[in-house]
Amino acid sequence: MNAPTRINSKLDVRSQFPAIANWHYLDSAATAQKPQVVIDAIARAYSRDYATVHRGVYERSAVMTDAYERSRAAASKLIGGQANELIFTRGATEAINLVARTLPKNGRNRVLLSQLEHHSNIVPWQLAGFEVDAVPLTQDGQIDLDAAEAMLTEQHRVVAFAHVSNVLGSILDAKRAAEIAHSKGALLLLDGCQAVPRMPVDVAGIGADFYAFSAHKLYGPTGIGCLWSRAELLQAMPPWQGGGAMIDSVTFERTTFADPPARFEAGTPHIVGAVGLHAAVDWVERLSLDAIHAHECALVSETRAALSGISGVTLYGPDDSAGIVSFNVDGVHAHDTATILDDAGVAVRAGHHCAQPLMQWLGVDATARASFAAQSDSSDIEALVRGIEQVKRIFSA
Ligand SMILES: Cc1ncc(COP(=O)(O)O)c(C=O)c1O
Repeated sequence: MNAPTRINSKLDVRSQFPAIANWHYLDSAATAQKPQVVIDAIARAYSRDYATVHRGVYERSAVMTDAYERSRAAASKLIGGQANELIFTRGATEAINLVARTLPKNGRNRVLLSQLEHHSNIVPWQLAGFEVDAVPLTQDGQIDLDAAEAMLTEQHRVVAFAHVSNVLGSILDAKRAAEIAHSKGALLLLDGCQAVPRMPVDVAGIGADFYAFSAHKLYGPTGIGCLWSRAELLQAMPPWQGGGAMIDSVTFERTTFADPPARFEAGTPHIVGAVGLHAAVDWVERLSLDAIHAHECALVSETRAALSGISGVTLYGPDDSAGIVSFNVDGVHAHDTATILDDAGVAVRAGHHCAQPLMQWLGVDATARASFAAQSDSSDIEALVRGIEQVKRIFSA
């Protein structure tokens, strides 16, 4: 791969983000800031092109419907799927809930998760009545796939893993996870929230069965996300929410349902969200996810090298993590670290990151987390290091 190690500064990526001038935003894993093209696309959709989709016979509605469906095709293509294989949801959380609630169990009542999952990939399975088994992690914070292979049984309907950990940045060997799942007739769901904004994804090459992600982590708007699955799997799943748009015909006696994806999109959808998502997909494709991945990996190496040079800083996760570095300063609660960093103009997340089982595995109740995106650069790392030195000064005083 000839990807550059840094996104070419001539592209002036950072200046495309109006909301982060004079601010070191290192919380992209929570939600990405928006480039101007995405903001403009959303503004245009409301101020010039707005109309409902799928229902109006007037021209503007037809144009909006076309824009909505083109967004679906673009979001699916981004991860190697077809247009009819992608369902719009409110986000990754809703996408995983949809699968947990509607996938026929076929006599298998167990789901295999891992110790590092986000609560969004734990609680939906519990609520849907699955028995949960959790795969341990390797010493450096990867999902232990040898253990997964040994734990998987024919009682497991689904193996559901994060493609990239939101705390450790560890990258799953997704292809091997698919082979393991399929060896016992289980399906593989990947929580791609942190992977899709950070690296190229190819659901067909992986052999995944379900793939979930959120637009707002991919430089797009909040309130919209995606569930990808193979057409024949979606076709076999019943609807989960009833209402307009998801039906074929309705009488008081009997309702028949539309084919996927409409079957799973009851009610007026997030029309403008889809337009914003399409603009975000185009934006990352223009930069290239190979380049974004290489850029973020280089920033992670730089950060880990800088933080390991500061005594009393503990780093979590593997050295080759994708765009995310979790750490703690000895004797300082992560919330205090983040508050002092905030005073220094650096935004990091602190807490359990919706991953309490992982915190237990790490033996801490919280970490501070710096997470990068395409617009991040070395000035953010320098500010982070200065801020951590300030944390140490304040707490040693
Ligand atoms: C790995 C992972 N999974 C799921 C989610 C939930 O995403 P959302 O809140 O956008 O539905 C997040 C968000 O932090 C995440 O990082």
